[in-house]
Formats: sequence, structure tokens, C-alpha cells
Amino acid sequence: MSTNIKWHDHNVTHEQRIAQKNQKPCVLWFTGLSGAGKSTLANAVDAELFKRDRHTYLLDGDNVRHGLNKELGFSDEDRIENIRRIGEVSKLFVDSGLIVLSAFISPFRSDRQMVRELVNDGQFIEVFVATPLSVCEERDPKGLYKKAREGNIKNFTGIDSPYEEPDSPEICVNTAELGIPEAVSQVMAYLESQSIIP
Ligand code: PPS
Repeated sequence: MSTNIKWHDHNVTHEQRIAQKNQKPCVLWFTGLSGAGKSTLANAVDAELFKRDRHTYLLDGDNVRHGLNKELGFSDEDRIENIRRIGEVSKLFVDSGLIVLSAFISPFRSDRQMVRELVNDGQFIEVFVATPLSVCEERDPKGLYKKAREGNIKNFTGIDSPYEEPDSPEICVNTAELGIPEAVSQVMAYLESQSIIP
């Protein structure tokens, strides 16, 4: 951290922002392999929350890598920096009172734990999109697994770069077994059980 910088408290507090929006802010952190269905599920949950007049924002791997993180690649170091920045952005949005949906492979347990510790207890909800590698590879929506198997993409998650499964995610969804509407219902039921949404 730089020297000669000082933290400023703001006039409008986190509690006042929450009260104004009348919702419990949190981050729904979707993690899983490429092609697991993270973006599809996060988008569908976002649409359902929007329909219920919740204030949300969706952060998504491919999109964030077009802007904020456009200089980052897929080495372990770059993935760690990717998740660190997204964690900090998620924290700011949670502070503003939003329900944040973040969909990133986020392959390392320690990085997801780091994001968990950035927000208050109960505000980090890990959603493991637990689609098996074989199914992701079979789907191969962007043709990336094929390229990785041919050796044309290096450090591809699940092929020659690791994915560390969550030990105890708040929500575990297998999109190979569940359709998207059922998976959305599973997430919404959890949010209701925690009084995050009415
Ligand atoms: S990470 O690991 O969390 O930093 O990755 P993320 O920011 O979520 O970006 C994942 C998307 O990048 C594309 N892509 C790759 N994924 C994995 N490994 C390699 N080497 C790679 N190269 C490009 C891919 O489209 C991922 O999108 P999803 O939606 O996960 O399929």
C-alpha cells in the first residue's frame, strides 16, 4: 500500500444505504469450470431478482476481462489478481447495498476464501456450479476445450490448470442434472431461507 494516504469515512453509512434499498446486500459467488453454466445461471438469477424489484449487479469473467482486467491472462498469478480485483469491486458494490452476482472460474480455494473475508459474515454466498468436466467438455460452447486438447490454449482450467472444488459451498448446483429454472429456484430458496430477499 502507498504511504501518505488516509481512509475517509463517508457521511452516508452502509446501514443507511441498506435501509434505503430495503434488502440485505451480499455477493453470490458462482464458481466452476469453463462451460459449467456459471454465466447462464447467474444471468437467470439476476433476471429473477430484477423481476422481484431487487437491486443487483452482475460481474462476469469474460466481460470484466474486456475492461477492468483486460491486461490479465490465465497464469496462476493473473488469475489471483483477477479474483483479488473482482473481490474488491464486489465488496464496494455490497457496501453500496447491492446484491452482487459474480461469475468467475475462480479456481483457487484460497482466493475465494480471501473474497469471503472481505465482506461481513453471511454476505458471501458461494454457489458451486458443479458440472463435471466431462459434461463441460462435451458442451464446449466456445470450442475452447477442443483447442486446449489440441495444445492451442495453454493453462486451460481442468486440462492443464487446476480447479479446486469448494469444500462447503452455501449452494451446490449440478446443471448437468438440473435445468436452469430448477437451479434458479434452488438459489432463490436459499436467499429466502436467509431472509436476503422476502
Ligand atoms: S479465472 O480463472 O477466474 O481468472 O477465469 P475467468 O476470469 O472467470 O475467465 C474465464 C473465461 O475465460 C475464457 N478462457 C479461459 N478459461 C480458462 N482457462 C483458460 N486458459 C482460458 N482462456 C480463456 C473462457 O471463456 C472462460 O469463460 P467461462 O464462462 O468460464 O467459460
